[in-house]
Amino acid sequence: MDTLMALFKRRGFIWPSYDIYGGVAGMYDYGPLGFSLRNNIVDVWRSLYKGREGFVEIDSEYVGPREVFKASGHLDKFADKITYCTKCGAPFRADHLVKEYYDNPDTMTEKELEEAFEKHNVKCLTCGGKLGPVEDFNLMFRTNIGPGTSRVGYLRPETAQGIFMNFQNLYRYNREKLPLGVMQTGRSYRNEIAPRQGMIRMREFNQMEVELFIDPEDKTWPRFPEMADEVLTLLPNTGSETVTMTVREAVEKKVIANEALAYFVGTTKQLLVRCGVDPARLRFRQHMPDEMAHYANDCWDAEALLSIGWTEITGVADRGAWDLSRHGQFSGTDLSHFVKYDEPREVEMDKVKANHKVIGPTFKGKAKAVTDAIEAKTPADIVDGKLTITVDGEEMVLDSDKFNVVRVKEKISGERIIPNVIEPSCGLDRIFYTVLEHAYSYDEKEDYTVLRLTPEVAPIKVGVFPLMAKDGLDTVARDLCEAVHTHRAEAYYDDAGQIGRRYARMDEAGTPWCITVDYDTLDGDLKGTVTIRDRDTTEQKRIRMDDAPAIIDDLITGKRKFSDL
Ligand code: ATP
Ligand code: GLY
Repeated sequence: MDTLMALFKRRGFIWPSYDIYGGVAGMYDYGPLGFSLRNNIVDVWRSLYKGREGFVEIDSEYVGPREVFKASGHLDKFADKITYCTKCGAPFRADHLVKEYYDNPDTMTEKELEEAFEKHNVKCLTCGGKLGPVEDFNLMFRTNIGPGTSRVGYLRPETAQGIFMNFQNLYRYNREKLPLGVMQTGRSYRNEIAPRQGMIRMREFNQMEVELFIDPEDKTWPRFPEMADEVLTLLPNTGSETVTMTVREAVEKKVIANEALAYFVGTTKQLLVRCGVDPARLRFRQHMPDEMAHYANDCWDAEALLSIGWTEITGVADRGAWDLSRHGQFSGTDLSHFVKYDEPREVEMDKVKANHKVIGPTFKGKAKAVTDAIEAKTPADIVDGKLTITVDGEEMVLDSDKFNVVRVKEKISGERIIPNVIEPSCGLDRIFYTVLEHAYSYDEKEDYTVLRLTPEVAPIKVGVFPLMAKDGLDTVARDLCEAVHTHRAEAYYDDAGQIGRRYARMDEAGTPWCITVDYDTLDGDLKGTVTIRDRDTTEQKRIRMDDAPAIIDDLITGKRKFSDL
């Protein structure tokens, strides 16, 4: 990882933030190549979810008031286990200190972790001192909204909450229909205890999240047949071996709980592989029941094999009704969806009815209003045998002689339900890093580095060089570079140093093709033609210069192969 991070820094993919002041752990800035690569990954994500599925995309606020995160559960439950060295005070993520001894140390309690320190003689990694008690450390960054401390706010720990906050607006926008797919990409913030793994654990990071609101009784997916043959490598929580099966088999054998969840595990695989994650170093691991986030009832993580071992890069979770029911309850807003039955159904139900014999004589002129208020209540509103109603602004607590609970038969046309949420949540920086690590290839003998980035995500698609920066070759090459560049494919002009060095620079930047303008371009039988070189095979071909923009386009989209030129 250190070698790669040095390469990425040298080539302008990423730079440690605030480097001239010593940097801040867990914070990175994206350089020109990195920013383009990252945007290209986002474009692939958009093409799958917005393009193929027709989901809608929003952009919500990064800072949210305390109430939001109280309801979402993040305030009470979004914590990692921390321990401090009793001698030097260095903080550590307690579960990470024992990960070589246990399979899922993040499910261990404070006491279990303290016992594990004793048992395995785990000491402070900085000074060897004794570790202190283990406690919870909430990962959210706290701030104040406005002057003073009256309104506490938090930087969002996931982009998802901004989507839940807008559910009512989005639901109306979608004409009150389900399923409703909403996407958002942007920053999220987690005050990670010990960000020691480069871009894998950042304190300010980027997510690409999709929240799919779906009827809990109907977790099928209309496009499922198109995904059914996609092959997945799965590590279910019922065993310790990976199994390989199609999406269809995973649902039929109940390895993945429902079609919608399986479909988006399949989509996640397609997204990652299209961006350049090596399918042989990719698996989907199901969370253990006690490992799941507080909001999830099922979760499959896409894990990539990296130099630091298997690492989560994306999670596909079934969040059930957690978010909308909590926000509905805490905000007092109706976040339900009306499911209309095909045919009205006769159902038996308990209803609250006014006891007219008592209501008439007791309330006289107000009897009708009291009756209406009683019958608007449900049996669940009866507390300790009494019913509280409000009539003309006056609150009344009624004893049980004023009403009865009766079983009635009624025809109903539908019912209100809280939509469930399926969430493919991608860590953009982790995908970015994985794509680069899987693209990296180093030939020790030649001391030569190539980044085999897929053309779709490569930040520069083509390098354009004059053989020599003289005799008009440079002018022709500059014009060609501009022509390719303005034809949508990022092109990079380079006339510095030997041609071999220029190829090497482009290979290290992951550029799939290079075009060279030479003396034959200007004169003779080959006039008007240039050489195009393929990064992965180093093969060279002669093409017409005027065709170059269209050829590059076709190579990127896969319409044409290099070998067919
Ligand atoms: P981990 O167990 O590695 O801390 P997590 O389970 O907390 O990760 P999630 O809460 O599932 O991660 O977050 C969703 C996605 O956001 C992850 O799949 C990951 O790609 C990304 N992510 C989470 N935390 C970070 C971070 N600190 N830096 C970069 N990406 C992150
Ligand atoms: N939205 C899922 C996560 O960030 O954990």
